[in-house]
Amino acid sequence: MLLFINGSWVSENEAVIPFQDGGFLYGDSLFESIRVGAGRPFRIHKNLERLRQGLNVIRLELPWSSKELIEICNTFIAKNNLQDGLLRLIVTRGTITGSPWNFSGAPNVYLTGRSLPPLPELPVKLEFVQEKDYPIARFFPAIKSGNYLGNMLAKRDAEQNGSFEPIFVNRDGLITEGALRNIFFVRDGILLTPGLALGVLPGIMRDTVLEIASSEGIRIQEEAISSSALSTFSEAFISSTGIGILPAVWDGFRSTHKLTYHLRDLLEARLKTGK
Ligand SMILES: Cc1ncc(COP(=O)(O)O)c(C=O)c1O
Repeated sequence: MLLFINGSWVSENEAVIPFQDGGFLYGDSLFESIRVGAGRPFRIHKNLERLRQGLNVIRLELPWSSKELIEICNTFIAKNNLQDGLLRLIVTRGTITGSPWNFSGAPNVYLTGRSLPPLPELPVKLEFVQEKDYPIARFFPAIKSGNYLGNMLAKRDAEQNGSFEPIFVNRDGLITEGALRNIFFVRDGILLTPGLALGVLPGIMRDTVLEIASSEGIRIQEEAISSSALSTFSEAFISSTGIGILPAVWDGFRSTHKLTYHLRDLLEARLKTGK
């Protein structure tokens, strides 16, 4: 695979990250996972919008325009002959000299990619974990920063417990999101998902699901969802760029996931066209 590093294309086994990279040293970085379908970056303008918002929050100026970044992604897809897969665009503070918090040199831009992860057995199992046990770097509004330690530890523990995805419950007892995915529930035919005000990542698939649901005339509520309300739901699913939609259950909860599978079919059809 050919990777992009600061304007150059290098083969995977020759690609290196400078030791003084602020992303490597301090997690001073942002990243975007971009879905590729039918050889096209799926809704990449949404990723770039989220990236720009994050750059503002971390006060980092990126000397690459969105048009240039799209061109780089398209070139990556062509060079690597990627039909369906994932791109990972990483922007870091740069190769730090002097005090890292004052560094104002050029950021580093990296682009890598991979094929889609294998589909797990459905439905996937969730477990609910406390955010206080897995401190995660929450910004309001959320940014997709390179600080994923809490997310990784929660995911690791969940998998060791036989679950697919840990779902965080914040200090107010409200459900926020998974370690790597957004969460949705269904109650009385209404699609529910935690609101962005909780610092939940505005997932590209979350947004796509909401768009599809709304065009299907499904009622949507983005609201605070208490973990004590779990018994009132008839369906649940998780969403992300890598997995699309996956129907989900937890201990003591079963579902036919009728609406979930309907939304999943519509989403998969869109992902196949890359638009
Ligand atoms: C914490 C978190 N929430 C939600 C998501 C889903 O976002 P997207 O749909 O853009 O992949 C991710 C993706 O990595 C994530 O890390």
